[in-house]
Amino acid sequence: MIINRIEIRDIDTVASLHKNNLISPSSKIGKSYLKKLYAILLSDPKTHVCVVASKKGEIVGSVIATKDLEKTNKLLRKLISLSTILNTLKALFFGKVTVQELVKRFIFEQTVLKRYPKPYASILALFVDRRHQRLGIGRSLIEFILKKLKKWE
Ligand SMILES: CC(C)(COP(=O)(O)OP(=O)(O)OC[C@H]1O[C@@H](n2cnc3c(N)ncnc32)[C@H](O)[C@@H]1OP(=O)(O)O)[C@@H](O)C(=O)NCCC(=O)NCCS
Repeated sequence: MIINRIEIRDIDTVASLHKNNLISPSSKIGKSYLKKLYAILLSDPKTHVCVVASKKGEIVGSVIATKDLEKTNKLLRKLISLSTILNTLKALFFGKVTVQELVKRFIFEQTVLKRYPKPYASILALFVDRRHQRLGIGRSLIEFILKKLKKWE
């Protein structure tokens, strides 16, 4: 298993893996939303560590972290577009996500930002494909990201 930086060409695969393995409001809003989200995170490599674990050339897991959650949240405001609003409304309409879930997520993010001093590093996403879970990949990804974040200190 090898761990590499996520490249632009990986975004489609990573968005699919995220959607299928990580239950979160973002996954429920849909893959196109996730693709935009990853494109934004990759656009600022000084703030984000975005890596994938691959086995025999196949991406099997990923971890994304930020060294400055406040900056990331500001960047992610770019996600607010007509298509995101429509996708969110669609997810709400079809009962994939509830207003409570979205509000809970928003409150959680605001609480974290208020409670911890800036800059606050945080893991934004961690997932391993179901077929490859319980084989130590999640642990390797976390160990990798912790080393990277420590270097940034
Ligand atoms: C959580 C997740 C990333 C773990 O990845 P993984 O490759 O299966 O994990 P590992 O094999 O490296 O296991 C690491 C440790 O976590 C434990 N673990 C893994 N999955 C577990 C689970 N579902 N419940 C309890 N413990 C679990 C393992 O036992 C291991 O501990 P040990 O070394 O003391 O035995 C993976 O299960 C996943 O993608 N889950 C869905 C998404 C998710 O919940 N992400 C985390 C929240 S953002």
